[in-house]
Amino acid sequence: MELFIDTADLDEVRRAVALGVISGCTTNPKLAAAAEPGSFRTRVEAILASCPGPVSVEVLAEAPDEMLAEATEYASWDPRVVIKVAMSLGGLEIISKLERERDIRVNVTCMMSSNQAAMALMAGATYVSLFVGRINDLGYDAGAVIGETAEYIERGGFDARIIAGSMRQVSDIQRSFLAGAHIVTTPYRFLPQMVHHPRTAETIAEFSRAWDEARRRGGLV
Ligand code: E4P
Repeated sequence: MELFIDTADLDEVRRAVALGVISGCTTNPKLAAAAEPGSFRTRVEAILASCPGPVSVEVLAEAPDEMLAEATEYASWDPRVVIKVAMSLGGLEIISKLERERDIRVNVTCMMSSNQAAMALMAGATYVSLFVGRINDLGYDAGAVIGETAEYIERGGFDARIIAGSMRQVSDIQRSFLAGAHIVTTPYRFLPQMVHHPRTAETIAEFSRAWDEARRRGGLV
């Protein structure tokens, strides 16, 4: 059970990592495009310097040979770079080549079904990313898709891990872990929500009041 930070924003990465609960980072072209302008390589290297664990970087090319070249370039930046390949027929070929011939770790992304996940697993993927929010948006049950994929990993004896992404609300994190996700990748905004509980805040305040009152009464020195 692990949490990754889902962002290309360096400030979010640093604030999340400072909490001590983050063990990786996932970026995608939309997140990278939303971050401050500048060299993409510099940004990825800054994320690598701020965040422990694997950092997923997505290839945008569509032709297999161009995907391979782009992936090999990103992987050359740091051994912790994991190549994100979106599920497609052309992508399958690349997943297998990267994992089995070039010893480069792949995170298969943009997946919405356990059939897609099954293909990614059989192509040798290290990570299979299921987009919880986008699956639920279509009226499907993302928890069931995660559960089926977890069963495939179990039955097939695959050395792979499920990343649940596309979090829309804090309860998606809980449901994804309970459905069998090994990793949840989340935007920063849900981390304080995971920590906060009104009853906890109330109890801390009550304890502190009791302590202060005792001190005022000179009961505690
Ligand atoms: C993670 O790897 C994904 O790229 C990300 O969670 C997608 O989130 P979205 O569906 O909100 O774009």
